[in-house]
Amino acid sequence: MPLRLSVIGTGYLGATHAACMAELGFEVIGLDVDPAKIETLAAGRVPFYEPGLDEVLARNIEAGRLSFTTSWEEVGRFADVHFVCVGTPQTAGAQKADMSQVFGSVDALAPHLREGALVVGKSTVPVGTAAALEGILAKTAADGVEIAWNPEFLREGFAVQDTLHPDRLVVGVRSQRSEDLLREVYAPVIAEGVPFIVTDFPTAELVKVAANSFLATKISFINAMAEVCEAAGADVTQLAQAIGYDPRIGNRFLAAGLGFGGGCLPKDIRAFMARAGELGADEAVAFLREVDQINLRRRAHTVDLAREVLGGEFLDRRITVLGATFKPESDDVRDSPSLDVAVAMSNAGATVVVHDPKGLANAERVYPHMTYEPDLMKALAGAELVVLGTEWREYRELDPATLDGMADKHVIDARNALDPDRWRKAGWSYRALGRPTA
Ligand code: UDX
Repeated sequence: MPLRLSVIGTGYLGATHAACMAELGFEVIGLDVDPAKIETLAAGRVPFYEPGLDEVLARNIEAGRLSFTTSWEEVGRFADVHFVCVGTPQTAGAQKADMSQVFGSVDALAPHLREGALVVGKSTVPVGTAAALEGILAKTAADGVEIAWNPEFLREGFAVQDTLHPDRLVVGVRSQRSEDLLREVYAPVIAEGVPFIVTDFPTAELVKVAANSFLATKISFINAMAEVCEAAGADVTQLAQAIGYDPRIGNRFLAAGLGFGGGCLPKDIRAFMARAGELGADEAVAFLREVDQINLRRRAHTVDLAREVLGGEFLDRRITVLGATFKPESDDVRDSPSLDVAVAMSNAGATVVVHDPKGLANAERVYPHMTYEPDLMKALAGAELVVLGTEWREYRELDPATLDGMADKHVIDARNALDPDRWRKAGWSYRALGRPTA
């Protein structure tokens, strides 16, 4: 009998994982505590924007391999391997991760698990979580139930590709049997030559936060260089290109601009600092405070630059912000640098209109008082200043010469995504982060 899988939590990670595991040929059941989400997914619709996911979802529901439920009992009865993909957001008012969904879902699942079932954590968690869950399962679940940790490295916007063709698979296990089960699940992926790294629990948990900390550090490093470039009159985009040719440095994840946001990097480095502190290792990751601060300074700097371009005053000035999501090809506005800048300028008295190809509905839920315009040309009409905060393709491809209807031609390219010469030649005053003023 082929293995049957469940996926607990159907957000960005879980919905993608469920659909992709079905795509590998397994029978999969997805569970969420939100009945509306389950209804949408069961109807073959993805409740968020993720390129390509809707086809994979619909195809596998159609083929009878993928179903959804809100019943723990049904999931427990159905599956041999259960992937826990629930959220671990930042705790309100603190740095550490809110673990209530992880512990809550394992508590709810435990009494329904079959003998010998394997629970596999995929959520990003503080080191030590797998061991704690193992203790809970030993008390509350059937005989032979085991836990493993298998961190997920997918990027929004590339979630399907990253799940089916990851750079590596990491599994933290306590037994050969758990390893064998996970090798069976990922057999088609391993057959492609994807490295399969077997570790203990704490190493697997730490791999994920270490990877995200490294990525965040790389972005803040180049943004720190942008600050120095601003002070010295140098160009950070050329600097990044030049250092990136050294393969030890590499040119990926070296784009200076408004910095990192989203539901992962900011909260993961904060949760890591909090956990390292609990373990008495706070000095080892003290540099992440600086990484966080450099990142947040870019947002403040962009607001200051906008004020400067407008002659020192925001009050009643009309600004268009291009981009509400934390990055292109996503509708996710969690900790979005661009939206943060838009809100800050609005709070300072400016009349701000926000445009985004996919993220306006989510933005409106978080900041209902802001003004949103889904039509790009209408959003630009009357603007005294345009701030590009998310580098969607349709902004990168704008022809500055054909844009009209603005009150003034000032642009701040907060993602270094536009061609300065082209915009300046078309009569715009162009400012960017980490680049000289012409
Ligand atoms: C990240 C990790 O990349 C992924 O491996 C992990 O599983 C989850 O967190 P994601 O949050 O989807 O993925 O976005 P990512 O593509 O990493 O971008 C994060 C932020 O960094 C975005 O706001 C992006 O605009 C910014 N960024 C990225 C930069 O500012 N410069 C860069 O060079 C790259």
